[in-house]
Amino acid sequence: MAMIIFASSLRYMVKIYVKCFYGRLKMLRKDLTKSLRLKILRSIIRSLQFMYSKIRKDVFIDGERYNVLENVFNPKLFCSSELMVEAIKRIGVSSNEMALDMGTGSGILAITLAKQGARVIAIDINRDAVRCARMNARNHRVDIDIIRSDLFSCLGKKKLFDLIVFNIPYLNLKPKDAFDLAICDYRKELLQRFLRESHDYLKDNGKILLSYSTLSDIDEAERMFRENGWRFERFMQRDISRFESIIVYRLEKNNEITSP
Ligand SMILES: C[S@@+](CC[C@H](N)C(=O)[O-])C[C@H]1O[C@@H](n2cnc3c(N)ncnc32)[C@H](O)[C@@H]1O
Repeated sequence: MAMIIFASSLRYMVKIYVKCFYGRLKMLRKDLTKSLRLKILRSIIRSLQFMYSKIRKDVFIDGERYNVLENVFNPKLFCSSELMVEAIKRIGVSSNEMALDMGTGSGILAITLAKQGARVIAIDINRDAVRCARMNARNHRVDIDIIRSDLFSCLGKKKLFDLIVFNIPYLNLKPKDAFDLAICDYRKELLQRFLRESHDYLKDNGKILLSYSTLSDIDEAERMFRENGWRFERFMQRDISRFESIIVYRLEKNNEITSP
């Protein structure tokens, strides 16, 4: 009798083990295909970026001309920049409001803000982006303070903004070089830091415009907004292909809960 019970429980355990093993294998395969797909996408983006830079040095967006250096995010190749320009115009900036363009790239969003009358600071971690944004600000005859910095680290805690805009990178891959910093955010580490640190730099009634893509995990991003003390709405959204939509979020401090 004991032998029969032992044999059948052994069979049962083996069955469960095999099921778990195949489950893990399936999950692993899914993860691998996902990361492979992202790597292929990154290669395509990088090739497009570098091919474009060999053909043209400038782009036109909304009737405005911007120079784009080879190593700098090209706002014409990605719909997120144009959607952010529209979002800035729609949200409106009154003159003398303080605005911050985080990750300015070519400077397109900072210049749009400055032309709306805001006093603007623009930040980028990429040295070439800072050079490029300065060149474009000069060409557009707007006065913008453009600084090289890793997020807010260059700012003392005193700067308080009415509006912060960030067209943030979102591919879940480790960045390989300066250009990759414009498109990759591994494990949403940059998003997490930005959501935590911006509390100290935004006025209590200030707003953030943050773009994100459905290519990354939107549910997780929205959970992170909540967990970091932000109220949010989907301010604008555009389907750019069968596989991807860009969403511009409008974030405000959630004063009902204490921020981290
Ligand atoms: C998607 S691009 C957006 C460029 C531009 N704002 C636009 O809309 O066309 C993101 C930018 O963020 C910058 N960036 C990435 N990590 C950063 C960090 N830790 N601190 C500051 N800028 C960063 C990149 O160099 C890149 O220029």
